[in-house]
Amino acid sequence: GKVVLAFSGGLDTSICVPLLREHYGFDEVVTVAVDVGQPEEDIQRATTKGRLLADQHYTIDVKERFVDEYIFPSIKANGSYEGYPMGTALARPLIAEEIVRIAGEEGARCIAHGCTGKGNDQLRFDFIFRAAGYEIIAPMREMNLTREWEIRYAEEHNIPVTVVKEKPYSIDENCWSRSIEGGKLENPSFHPPDDIYAWTVSPKDAPDTMEEVSIEFEKGVPVALDGERLTGLALIKRLNLIAGRNGVGRNDMIEDRILGIKAREIYEHPAATVLLAAHGDLERLVLTRSELAFKRIVDDRWSELGYMGLVHEPLFHALNAFVDTTQERVTGTVDVGLYKGSVRVLGRSSASMLYSDDLVSFDTVSIDQNHSVGFSTYFGLQARLCKNLKNR
Ligand code: ARG
Ligand code: SIN
Repeated sequence: GKVVLAFSGGLDTSICVPLLREHYGFDEVVTVAVDVGQPEEDIQRATTKGRLLADQHYTIDVKERFVDEYIFPSIKANGSYEGYPMGTALARPLIAEEIVRIAGEEGARCIAHGCTGKGNDQLRFDFIFRAAGYEIIAPMREMNLTREWEIRYAEEHNIPVTVVKEKPYSIDENCWSRSIEGGKLENPSFHPPDDIYAWTVSPKDAPDTMEEVSIEFEKGVPVALDGERLTGLALIKRLNLIAGRNGVGRNDMIEDRILGIKAREIYEHPAATVLLAAHGDLERLVLTRSELAFKRIVDDRWSELGYMGLVHEPLFHALNAFVDTTQERVTGTVDVGLYKGSVRVLGRSSASMLYSDDLVSFDTVSIDQNHSVGFSTYFGLQARLCKNLKNR
C-alpha cells in the first residue's frame, strides 16, 4: 500500500519514513512538506531529505494563501488564545488540506503524521484527515517512542540528526508566529536563555528611541505600511523585522492544551502583536458600542474553534460571516510607536469613524446640554427605587 506523510524534515517525521516501511509494512511512502513561511533552510532541508528518504516528495508553497485565507480572518476576529496570537493552530488546517489533496492525486488511502499523543496538533490534523475519509497513522503517538530511541534508529538508517543536538527544542514556525517548547523549557521555573529567540531582540537591548509605523487597513485587513501598499505576506514579513528589532511580541506562558495538559510555551509574534493592537484600536473608532460588545463574544468563540482547528464546524462559518459584516467599515489608518518591547497606538483615523469632536468637545455648542437633564432624570431609575426600598 501507499501512504502520504506530512513531512517537516525534522527528526520525528524523518524516522517516520523507514518506520512506515519496516514497522507498518507500506511499500510506498510519499512525503509532503507544506510551506507556510518556515525558514527557507527548513523547507530546503525538508525537500532534500524527502527526496532522499521517500519514494516521492512534494514541497508545496501556500504562504500567500495562508495569509489571505487564515491570517487575515484571524486579524478580523482579533484571534488569540489565552492572550497570545494563534499561529500553529491557524496553519494546521491548510497544511492538512494540502496533504489530503496530494493523497487524492496519489490514490493513497492512508495519511501519516508525526504528532505526539500529548499535543494539540494531532487533534487538528486528525480532524481534517478523518473528515476527508482517510485512515490515520501516527507513529510517534502509537509507538510511544523516546528521543533516545529515535536518535539511535535515525543513525541506524543514515538519517542525519545534527539539528536535534544543536537545538534541543521543538520549534514550530510560520510567517505569523514562532513557538518554542520542550527540552529544558519544560521546567516552568527555568529562565529561558536569550538564544531561543530568533525574531525578537530582548527589550533591554532594543534601541533607546521609539520607532513609528503607520498601518493602513481596508475592511479589517492591513494593506499598507507607511503609505506603501504591500501584499499581506510582504507586509507581515516587514513588520516582523521592524517590531522584532524593538523587542515587541515575546511571550512566555503556561498554556492549557485541548486535552487539559498544561504546557510551558514560548512565542514570538512581533507583527501579530502590532497588527492585532492596531486593528482592535481601529474597531473602537468605527464600530458601535453594541457591535463591539457582541463582537467580543464572537471573537472569543472564533478563537476557541480556531485553536482547536475545527474549521469545518458550521458555527465557525457563521461567525466568519458576522465578522465580515462588521469589517465592512474597518478601514482607516493607525499610527503605532514601538519602544523596548511595547507597542502603543499614537493616533488613528478613518472616514467611517463614529467619533465626532463636535459632540465630545469641551469647546463646542452643537449639543444643548440642557437636553441631558431629561435623560438624567430617568437614568438608573430602577436602581434608585431599589436603593430607597432598602433604606426604608
Ligand atoms: N501550543 C501551541 C499550539 O497548540 C504551539 C504548538 C507548537 N507545535 C509544535 N509542533 N511545536 O498552537
Ligand atoms: C506535539 O505534541 O506533537 C506538538 C505540540 C502540540 O501539538 O501541541
